[in-house]
Amino acid sequence: MNIESILLSMRSGSEQRPEAIEAFVRGVADESISRPQAAAWLAWAYMRGLSGAETLALTRAMTRSGEVLSWPEGAPLVDKHSTGGVGDKVSLVLAPLWASLGLRVPMISGRGLGHTGGTLDKLEAIPGYRCDLEEAHLIQQLAEVGCFISGQTRSLAPADRVLYGLRNETSTVDANPLIVGSILSKKLAEGVEHLVLDVKVGSGAFMKTPAQARALATALVEVAEGSGVRCAANLTAMDRPLGVAVGNAVEVEEAIACLRGEGPDELRELVLLLAGHPRAAEELDSGRPLERFARMVEAQGGDPRVVDDPSRLQGAGVEEELVRAPRAGVVGEVDALALGMAAFRLGAGRSRAEDPVDFGVGLRVHARPGQRVREGEPLLTLLHRGGRGLEVARAQVLAALRVGDVAPDVLPLVVDTVGDAGLSGIVAAS
Ligand code: URA
Repeated sequence: MNIESILLSMRSGSEQRPEAIEAFVRGVADESISRPQAAAWLAWAYMRGLSGAETLALTRAMTRSGEVLSWPEGAPLVDKHSTGGVGDKVSLVLAPLWASLGLRVPMISGRGLGHTGGTLDKLEAIPGYRCDLEEAHLIQQLAEVGCFISGQTRSLAPADRVLYGLRNETSTVDANPLIVGSILSKKLAEGVEHLVLDVKVGSGAFMKTPAQARALATALVEVAEGSGVRCAANLTAMDRPLGVAVGNAVEVEEAIACLRGEGPDELRELVLLLAGHPRAAEELDSGRPLERFARMVEAQGGDPRVVDDPSRLQGAGVEEELVRAPRAGVVGEVDALALGMAAFRLGAGRSRAEDPVDFGVGLRVHARPGQRVREGEPLLTLLHRGGRGLEVARAQVLAALRVGDVAPDVLPLVVDTVGDAGLSGIVAAS
């Protein structure tokens, strides 16, 4: 099957047979299909959409474009994927919590882009922590520690690397079938049996409305289940940041607090919900998941002493500026997008994949939507380095955090769920 006939068939709107999609993806991965040809295929897929069967075929082909990890017999293999947001440090808590509950967690994670943070950037705030582990190391670590959080290896879903880059260049990122193929090919290549999805909704998320998030979650669950992975999704609030900390080192610190049974209630609530295990709360309070986190950090070359002494995290030497309530009243929306952009301006994020991040800068958001405050009460702390980006970040924060007289409408933490088993069914049933 040649690419010319595949493109003509796409152009005519015909349903693509799985073999045609497989041939396209194979050609992308081995570079026998040119970039303009691949870009044309993406543009046709974007314009006309892909059916459920086509999306399943695309996902399977992308998964098989590289190596699919396989694991020895043992405890259930579980993972979580979040579609990304502001202050989302759940993975740092959930992976060791699940491992401590006896599950195996082979978590391949990503980096931040724009206003959304990335799990790997946060973990790299731990001195020495490595996210580029070879497969042999991952296998040994999973057997010994029960979890890892590392980056995509070169051999995992290589077609996604090419297609994702092209989608960015051709403005074809925001098409659900392409998003599903991209997210799930990487997760399926991990060889997991259970996948819990956290589809974020709100200003700081990819999906701005519950309807958009529900459509994506439904497509993700259907294709994951169709590929033999038990899957359910939660739609959760991203109209405000999750927890207090937004940045890199500050988020690691907050995740460690959560692993100690401390930290913001909303973070703990979401971790326990996604864990979906009847003993999750008891386990989190036992201190064992924190020990497991330290073991994971050490196994990945990081300094486990950060657990007891967060001042060892990278990025020290930042300055703090308090933003105070200009009047007494009620805090309105605490807009996740604006706060994510403010953290980005301070240097916590990046606009290109190859840019470095500043581990130390970011925000601590003290105010919650609807909270009553007195004049002069601290709303937020800006963590900046020598004033870099401070003026713009300050303006963004002041616009995002208005104090008025009326409590805003905010999304409930859990907006909806998708998937038969519900989240608690999945892991607990195993
Ligand atoms: N994350 C991914 O990995 N792929 C997408 O297409 C969108 C978000």
